[in-house]
Amino acid sequence: MISAPPSTDRTLNLGPIEQIPPGEGRRFQIGNVPVAVFRARDGQVFATQALCTHKAGPLADGIMGAGKIVCPLHSYTFDLATGAPLGHTCKALKTYPVSLSADGDILLSIEGQRPSSREGKQP
Ligand code: FES
Repeated sequence: MISAPPSTDRTLNLGPIEQIPPGEGRRFQIGNVPVAVFRARDGQVFATQALCTHKAGPLADGIMGAGKIVCPLHSYTFDLATGAPLGHTCKALKTYPVSLSADGDILLSIEGQRPSSREGKQP
């Protein structure tokens, strides 16, 4: 887990994307908000809440591919861009706007949370 100081700024610089190997995720602690940032092999970057909506599995340790994350605890799948549950009825993940700077730094906004695209119930 990588910590970043709490900030009232809209955008946080989490440092170079190279700290996350392609095809993997890393957990960042932003004040009291745990966030998982994922680096896709095609260069896309995603950010979601760090804990699975099913039973709080560590999503940064899951398997990612094709814009999806598979939770390492019970293998439930979520869409990384929208947070939507795929093939199950758990609540959608919170997603956060994230991009890369010209220098390849991760720029994350935790104030501009996108609303969940689908609400579900925990089975
Ligand atoms: S905790 Fe993520 S699928 Fe169960």
